[in-house]
Amino acid sequence: IVARALYSSSASSPIKRVAVVGGGQMGAGIAQVSATFEHGVTLIDVNAEALERGQKYMAKSLARVAKKKFPAEPNVASDWVEAVLGRVRPTTSLSEGVRSADLVVEAVVENIGVKQKLFGDIAQAAPGHCLLASNTSSLPIGRIAEHLDAEAKARTLGLHFFNPVPQMKLVEVVRAEHTGAQAIESAVAFVESIGKAPAVCKDTPGFIVNRLLLPYMMEAIRLLERGAAEARDIDTAMKLGAGYPMGPFELCDYVGLDTLKFITDGWFKEGDGLRGDKAFAASPKLDELVAAGHLGVKSGRGFYDYSASKKK
Ligand code: NAI
Repeated sequence: IVARALYSSSASSPIKRVAVVGGGQMGAGIAQVSATFEHGVTLIDVNAEALERGQKYMAKSLARVAKKKFPAEPNVASDWVEAVLGRVRPTTSLSEGVRSADLVVEAVVENIGVKQKLFGDIAQAAPGHCLLASNTSSLPIGRIAEHLDAEAKARTLGLHFFNPVPQMKLVEVVRAEHTGAQAIESAVAFVESIGKAPAVCKDTPGFIVNRLLLPYMMEAIRLLERGAAEARDIDTAMKLGAGYPMGPFELCDYVGLDTLKFITDGWFKEGDGLRGDKAFAASPKLDELVAAGHLGVKSGRGFYDYSASKKK
């Protein structure tokens, strides 16, 4: 009963059916959390194998949640996992997947051309009331919606989740110039319905979190380049002196050094109001690591070496 009360807040949101496009790390997380809070979900990907991986990811993550929620009742736990997974329907057909959605959340590759084309296709296939949201970290929502008509633009916004989605409480709700007030209001209610906290902001590079975090991460790398301190000491200092849960180099490695470079290079070259901003200028150390394929935790090495912890 308690579990039901905790996980049934979707009743207060007008959004009931959610379509998530992109079954990768983020898309699977968004689908999982939406289904946990009793929304009906379709998970859409061009790649059937990605959908299978997404389902495995959700099953594993839900099993962990269930173990904590029902520590003494393994049968209840597995029934709960089955029930949540049963609310997620995977499909490779975009038009069929978004046909009856109240909200579409796009979480495909970070490529403006791909996203612009996809939003055109989604706007064609989804119902006229459906909210159209992108989970982009670094692309302007205004550009993603560029080719839509005014009515569809008013329903388009950013819903920026954080990784790992099941654990991270924040969702940035991004209001582009064309986004209507009603769309923002419904999106905020949806975010609250899935147990997350919304932070509403304008469509500017990095929104809130990354706009503040990236200069900090780049400055930490420059501190290292200047020889002011070792990475380990800088991380210890920021964890114990500033109370941050991770040090800047642990964070860089977790985010991925290629991702960090992709975003900062993009902003330095053409970020709205950021072009030429020294905070985002290339760093020789970062360039060197990326060129060597040392991308952080995912490649086994970044600022730190993770190869030992990856071995069994
Ligand atoms: P990913 O690479 O794990 O997954 C992307 C998925 O999209 C793949 O399964 C791919 O098959 C699928 N896909 C590609 N084109 C498609 C299309 N046209 N239609 C349907 N599916 C398509 O990527 P990830 O990390 O999940 O990121 C997705 C989005 O989320 C990106 O926009 C990224 O900027 C954003 N994001 C990522 C975060 C992260 O930490 N990874 C954090 C917050 C946002």
